Amino acid sequence: MPRVIVFTILLLGLLALIPPAIFARMRSTPGPGRPIHIVQDMDYQPKFKTQTANPLFADGRAMRQPVPGAVARGEVMDDPHYLEGAIDGQWATEFPSQVEVNMALLDRGRERFNIYCSVCHGVAGYGDGMVNLRAMALMANADGPVDGTAWVQPKNLHLPEVAAQPVGQIFHSITNGIRNMAGYQAQIATADRWAIVAYVKALQLSQNAPAGLRAEATP
Ligand code: HEC
Repeated sequence: MPRVIVFTILLLGLLALIPPAIFARMRSTPGPGRPIHIVQDMDYQPKFKTQTANPLFADGRAMRQPVPGAVARGEVMDDPHYLEGAIDGQWATEFPSQVEVNMALLDRGRERFNIYCSVCHGVAGYGDGMVNLRAMALMANADGPVDGTAWVQPKNLHLPEVAAQPVGQIFHSITNGIRNMAGYQAQIATADRWAIVAYVKALQLSQNAPAGLRAEATP
């Protein structure tokens, strides 16, 4: 094949690379205008963006004000006794007025405690739940910490320092967690967290009942 034809083919081949190179460059560098947008779908449509003007309304704003007195869902935080277990920054020693302490509440509390807490703290609250037993077994068979972490045993809820806690403090621990224990606000509704507090108190009483209490209580 004559050399001139070979060179011409090579040259044309190189020139053919230029348009795709320009396209690639334009696609990858920001430019002042909008890119060519052939299929529009609903990408550009007439609308008012937030914080802009809209002549349709008398006040000229595109955004509407909330209805007077509107409260954002889940943001009423004006009842610290019920929602945080605290009154004026002190742990509440009484149940809030919304919570009626009766057998139905204790039953509900026992059911919820057995679902959410007994796995770690044990059904009787001694910190001997199944998760703990399993973790202890894993630790016993390992040379060092398992997965780089050491196991913190769930607290025995009958220790004097826990039994002495006011109801508000226990509520707070369940709600927000405490040290190595996670909070249960997301999983357990507020009313149920109070039911669990009542049940924990009943559990603690049951393990520390003074002799003769039963005889006095049932004449
Ligand atoms: C995944 C295991 C686990 C579950 C489930 C769990 N806890 Fe705990 N809990 C712990 C651990 C661990 C501690 C000790 C935390 C520490 O000392 O770092 C603890 C501590 C506590 C304490 C003691 C707080 C203090 O002031 O020392 C209370 C009260 C308590 N938990 C109540 C509950 C209740 C009620 C539930 C059910 C809603 C629950 N826990 C569910 C692991 C758990």
